[in-house]
Amino acid sequence: MLELDDIQSGVLRPRPAPYVATYIGLRIDDRNAGRELMRRVAAVVTSAANPDSPLSDTWVSVALTYPGLKALGVPQESLDSLSWEFRQGMAARAKDLGDVGQSDPQQWEKPLGSGDVHVIIVAVSPNATRLEEVLDRARQSYKSMSGIEAIWRQDCHALPNEKEPFGFKDGISHPAIEGSGIPGTNPHEPLLKAGEFVIGYTDELGGTQKTVPEILGRNGTYVVFRKLHQRVAEFRKFLKASANNADDEELLAAKMMGRWRSGAPLALCPFHDDPELGADARRNNVFMFEEDDKTGLKTPGGSHIRRCNPRDAAIAGVARIHRMIRRGTAYGPLLPDGVLEDDGADRGLMFAFVGAHIGRQFEFVQSQWVNDGVFFGAGDDKDPVIGSNGPGGSFTVPRKPVRRRIQGIPNFVVTRGGEYCFMPGLRALSWLANLET
Ligand code: HEM
Repeated sequence: MLELDDIQSGVLRPRPAPYVATYIGLRIDDRNAGRELMRRVAAVVTSAANPDSPLSDTWVSVALTYPGLKALGVPQESLDSLSWEFRQGMAARAKDLGDVGQSDPQQWEKPLGSGDVHVIIVAVSPNATRLEEVLDRARQSYKSMSGIEAIWRQDCHALPNEKEPFGFKDGISHPAIEGSGIPGTNPHEPLLKAGEFVIGYTDELGGTQKTVPEILGRNGTYVVFRKLHQRVAEFRKFLKASANNADDEELLAAKMMGRWRSGAPLALCPFHDDPELGADARRNNVFMFEEDDKTGLKTPGGSHIRRCNPRDAAIAGVARIHRMIRRGTAYGPLLPDGVLEDDGADRGLMFAFVGAHIGRQFEFVQSQWVNDGVFFGAGDDKDPVIGSNGPGGSFTVPRKPVRRRIQGIPNFVVTRGGEYCFMPGLRALSWLANLET
């Protein structure tokens, strides 16, 4: 069993729907103040125990960047025992992640990627009143403490249509984790070893990550935050220009995503949307690809969901070691239906990945499966929805008698910034608070 009472809630619990969320970035200017912050915040952070409590859908999580652990005075030997990618930080990994051009760290929203964000506090709740209550408690942990500065904030909220900004239902597919007691969404996918997502347990390769000292990593994990701006008007215009009529627009959108906007998967209803299926959490993720759709006639190999989780595809190697927990929350206003001109508003997704292996999980998926097509024989075709396509991306829709080829796909998603973080277990937070270096 996982030690749920020592694991932060945000690691294992899917977010509520609907939701409101706030991310707060803090800088530690004084290591003793930083340690006091860890002590106070540990009292506010919720653990993953008691999943059935009505309050378990409101939580506060805390995560630290590598510069943040340094600012706390964590000994070098301990720092060196953490993941290499985490120590590099997201900005240093930009080229591998496809963060070039408008997504280049030089263009990022400050202070993301600058080394100044040391701690990120996340509060998530089903409604604004309860969010305000927990935020208030979280704020007490750093308010009027000299040596701690709040330097960044991002508010997120479910859009009125409860879809992500491009208009698709999200938050559907989640891996099932051994010992978590939380059911997965696809009964065809065997449980994943806990060490894929939580440090200190055996993973799919038979290894167990250990840190120095062990308590630092035990029941912790890594979290990748990425603020992803979505060019919604551009996406809509592109669909209109590439499709033959309104129905074809919806079909093309579904082929690019692998699901209709309702969430219904092409794998189960390839010819038309089925909103009832899309809304049914017991059915909308119950499928594999290989058995009956090897060639992608239903779900194209290049679609967003098939690339990011090829499930049973033999061609992609072992998908199980590249699985990810996702915790995306939307920010910015809805672009009203039918509007095709950009209104200049910043809108998109605060993407959050959770997993114990940043390199073979998030980075692998982002660089090999999102931004390359070689793995399934599609050359340099990138993800048609989120790929770093520049002005000339292409996408193939397998079809009989002739495949459909979509050209000239621009970037629909721009990285505004992000951080690689370490999310300690609750006992590790106390260990950090009691450092004496
Ligand atoms: C603005 C950016 C993004 C948008 C709009 C978006 C949208 C979506 C939607 C609508 C789904 C289907 C519903 C669901 O299962 O939740 C999905 C699934 C998924 N996305 Fe994304 N996504 C974005 C970024 C990313 C990134 C950066 C990654 C990884 C590097 C990623 C990985 C995945 C994975 C693994 C799935 C689940 C696939 C499955 O198991 O079927 N997404 N995304």
